[in-house]
Amino acid sequence: MSQTAASNRPAKRVVTFGTYDVFHVGHVLLLERAAALGNHLIVGVSTDALNFSKKQRYPVYSERDRMKIISSLQFVNEVFAEHSLELKREYLQQHRADILVMGDDWAGKFDEFKDICEVVYLARTPSISTTEIIEVVKSRP
Ligand code: CTP
Repeated sequence: MSQTAASNRPAKRVVTFGTYDVFHVGHVLLLERAAALGNHLIVGVSTDALNFSKKQRYPVYSERDRMKIISSLQFVNEVFAEHSLELKREYLQQHRADILVMGDDWAGKFDEFKDICEVVYLARTPSISTTEIIEVVKSRP
């Protein structure tokens, strides 16, 4: 296992997934805390097609723009496109995840991956979501 330059602690690769549409502070805080759990943060950004299949609507921002925004963050090291919810195990293995981080809206739902990595659920930031932002903007005169 690789070591960090500054210490003898093993380098930890953190993987998380999300849509990150209409990027907001809840997204920043989740990614910042995920990054702090390890030394290398990898973010799976769900594709437009995957979102359509889940929610019957396309994200406001395209997958290209959402991936560009996430990859611009100083605490994000790598970004990849998440094409299918069924491929989580493959993605975790492919990216050699030591830790899977998810928001606690998913609490317990990813425990099946505890055989290959640590699974951590982080508390969501209260009172903000992409869905709410879209509703607020739509309702403004
Ligand atoms: N997240 C968070 N706090 C929020 C909103 C999101 O910590 N207030 C986290 C989610 O738990 C997830 C990541 O940010 O780990 C990406 O969430 P995503 O579903 O893309 O964002 P939402 O704002 O929840 O979008 P939506 O309203 O469409 O579900």
